[in-house]
Amino acid sequence: MKVLFLAGFLAICASNAIPLATRDNSHYIEGSSRYLWMTDDEGRTRLEDLHVPVDTDLLATRNGANNQYWLFTRSNPRNPQIITYGNANSVRNSNYSERKPLKVIVHGWAGSGNSVLNTMITSAFLDTFDVNVIVVDWRALASANYITAATGVPSVGQFIGNFVVWLINTAGGNWNNVHFVGFSLGAHAVGVAGRVTGCRPIRVTGLDPAGPLWNTNREALNTAAGRYVEVMHTDVGVMGILQPIGHADFYPNRGRDQPGCGGSNQCSHSRAHELYASSVRTNHFVGNLCSGLIQALNNDRCPGATLNMGNGILTKQGSGIYALRTRSSWPF
Ligand SMILES: *[C@@H]1O[C@H](CO)[C@@H](O)[C@H](O)[C@H]1NC(C)=O
Repeated sequence: MKVLFLAGFLAICASNAIPLATRDNSHYIEGSSRYLWMTDDEGRTRLEDLHVPVDTDLLATRNGANNQYWLFTRSNPRNPQIITYGNANSVRNSNYSERKPLKVIVHGWAGSGNSVLNTMITSAFLDTFDVNVIVVDWRALASANYITAATGVPSVGQFIGNFVVWLINTAGGNWNNVHFVGFSLGAHAVGVAGRVTGCRPIRVTGLDPAGPLWNTNREALNTAAGRYVEVMHTDVGVMGILQPIGHADFYPNRGRDQPGCGGSNQCSHSRAHELYASSVRTNHFVGNLCSGLIQALNNDRCPGATLNMGNGILTKQGSGIYALRTRSSWPF
């Protein structure tokens, strides 16, 4: 009894010890570890303390009301037009076209509208499809510490959902042409956004949805976000969530330690948006259905039916857990 108690105590201490080696997350156990090395889009690494109190003062002033919506189209592929929620003229004077599909892209923690994932995915969409792309910038909150940013994600998502409802009511559009794409914390934000609209987006794509603080979080991305919710898992158990949470869940390369990443969690996590941008352009990733999560985590090939991973096709449908192998460099 005493021995068991001591062993448990030691395990808790070990998982809360401050990891001394920079970027070494080998200690990390989802749900119990206190510290996690995280890197933002500019490559700055910070040791995040998942047990600090939420910064409620910051949350009171920085929330979804601070979201910015940047429109890109084939007429303005590089210079955004800012759409202001509630200002109809800001849409009327823009290149938004109600006849074209709408893609909404949402970045993650410590990111912004300028994050590389937005540029990569926007250019992949516009080179492949004649669409409206809205890049959401929620840097006001995303720049907070991780636990505060994660706590504010539902507000960010509610504003995104309400914004898209307003946009379509104001300037036209068709929910069967609406596709939400979110990376990391942004994947949970599009989950909330989709539910706020009443599950109206035809498609929702979650790119390695954030893991820390989201395992048992009722606000996490789920299948109520859209008609077809697809999730790509590339750093399970550390930066990304382990469990399948979509209609279809893909675990490329066993869902972790992505080839060419040398064990870096940040590299494996970011691989999700790189794989996605590549899939929009070439649609060459073919997954095979697995018997369940365990099979997907232990194999980079499963014996079941095929389903392509990613792409930007609005009529895509599917369900189940899929495995596949990718290469180590672009286009993977
Ligand atoms: C796009 O918007 C710009 C700026 O408002 C405008 O000059 C241009 O004509 C628009 N392009 C199209 C195709 O509507």
